[in-house]
Amino acid sequence: MIEFKGVHKTYNNGIKALKDVSINIEKGEFVFIIGASGAGKSTFLKLMMREEVPSAGEVIVNDFRLSKLKRREIPYLRRTMGVVFQDFRLINNMTVYDNVAFAMRVTGSSNTAVRKRVPYILGLVGLQNKARSYPPELSGGEQQRVGLARALVNNPSIIIADEPTGNIDPELSYEIVELLTEINRRGTTVLMVTHERDLVRMFHHRVIEIREGCVVSDRRVEEKKPTLSSFEADAVDTTGIFPPSRKDGFDYES
Ligand SMILES: Nc1ncnc2c1ncn2[C@@H]1O[C@H](COP(=O)(O)OP(=O)(O)OP(=O)(O)O)[C@@H](O)[C@H]1O
Ligand SMILES: [Mg+2]
Repeated sequence: MIEFKGVHKTYNNGIKALKDVSINIEKGEFVFIIGASGAGKSTFLKLMMREEVPSAGEVIVNDFRLSKLKRREIPYLRRTMGVVFQDFRLINNMTVYDNVAFAMRVTGSSNTAVRKRVPYILGLVGLQNKARSYPPELSGGEQQRVGLARALVNNPSIIIADEPTGNIDPELSYEIVELLTEINRRGTTVLMVTHERDLVRMFHHRVIEIREGCVVSDRRVEEKKPTLSSFEADAVDTTGIFPPSRKDGFDYES
């Protein structure tokens, strides 16, 4: 669904932001993109969204061959993606409900569709009780969940998040990734850029590392299956020696 074939990106100032990047991301994957500041992570996302064009190579997203895409076709590509921004980019004088509804209205959705869909999406991100609040009245994590609701409301096949947790504290970051993981379980492909290695370690998703414009590692971390002995331990332990299973089902690494 997302394919980079020998992609190079050199900006006008001569900076080589990406060098010979070839990568395949299948429908339904969750991919973390990590790397130092200036490594080329945002450039990678911008090429996917057709905000930038490659200097060489080919990018294919959702069957759109981006080098062949005409200007008037760009909105059709972008409608297949929902974008979550680091700095939320909410409209402060609109309610939470209207921030999300607005994203639907601009694509021409009917009032009936908006009235049905917005409450559902707000429920999905746990903000059903905040529909009438304004963004400045919310915590950072809540504001980012509005950002996520807005990205999801048009039912995109890909969610693109460039450091969505960059402006919120660690517990709230965990919540946001947990939410993205749940959305991914329902079938949406998720690409998330992050600096936070601890966060990456807590979730067993594919990790692509970019260093100085090159992909230097690409690892898939298998979901840990519980072993028989751990099941038995859960079943018979009355000693309190074994730590209780986490209700959210994620394995932490120490
Ligand atoms: N529009 C631009 N014009 C010129 N150079 C740019 C442009 N955008 C990015 N660059 C340069 O390209 C390189 C990669 O930038 P990019 O924004 O992709 O990095 P990043 O990995 O997202 O970094 P960060 O973690 O700081 O967001 C950097 O050296 C940056 O200065
Ligand atoms: Mg960046």
